[in-house]
Amino acid sequence: MESNARLRDFIQSFSHLIEHAGNDEVRILADGKNLLSALIRHDDWLPEAFAQPSVDRYQQYLLYCDPRERFSVVSFVWAPGQTTPVHDHTVWGMVGVMRGAERCEEFELDPATARLRAIGSHHLPTGGVDLVSPRIGDIHKVSNALKDSVSISIHVYGANIGALKRHVYDLHTGQKKPFISGYTSKVIPNIWDHDAE
Ligand SMILES: [Fe+2]
Repeated sequence: MESNARLRDFIQSFSHLIEHAGNDEVRILADGKNLLSALIRHDDWLPEAFAQPSVDRYQQYLLYCDPRERFSVVSFVWAPGQTTPVHDHTVWGMVGVMRGAERCEEFELDPATARLRAIGSHHLPTGGVDLVSPRIGDIHKVSNALKDSVSISIHVYGANIGALKRHVYDLHTGQKKPFISGYTSKVIPNIWDHDAE
């Protein structure tokens, strides 16, 4: 399959899901996970420009945003050793590892102490998909699990994630600070040039 077709098919299928599932987050996460699993099964479609690591920090390339900002698709590119701060999302999200491996650490705020409490961590191998949302657990930290190579994950969120007001957390005090992630890229892939295929 031509490389643009995989991303275009995914976006068309995800748009169909969002139109029919409405605000049914359980259905979006279940069916969306299947769509994302199928997309990351083939590591042959992400254009090179959206797979470039940087020594400065992990990269977040916007691949697509729904016209009504009901969902967005982002490639995260991690150089060895790179990690996110502890952060929340405030909307549903899914992380699918397409190349390499990642480490996911989950936290929750202890209402009694207002401190962050580590509640688990796991290794996400190539092909693995992790889910987050305020309903099922929304605070985590994600890292490249590989010490000597780049990892790439494809993320889908229930909003225009780069423009969304959310939070990063101080691991020790639990204090949260406003955070808007933005995007690394100024352009998005052109998936609509059918004739080129
Ligand atoms: Fe996250």
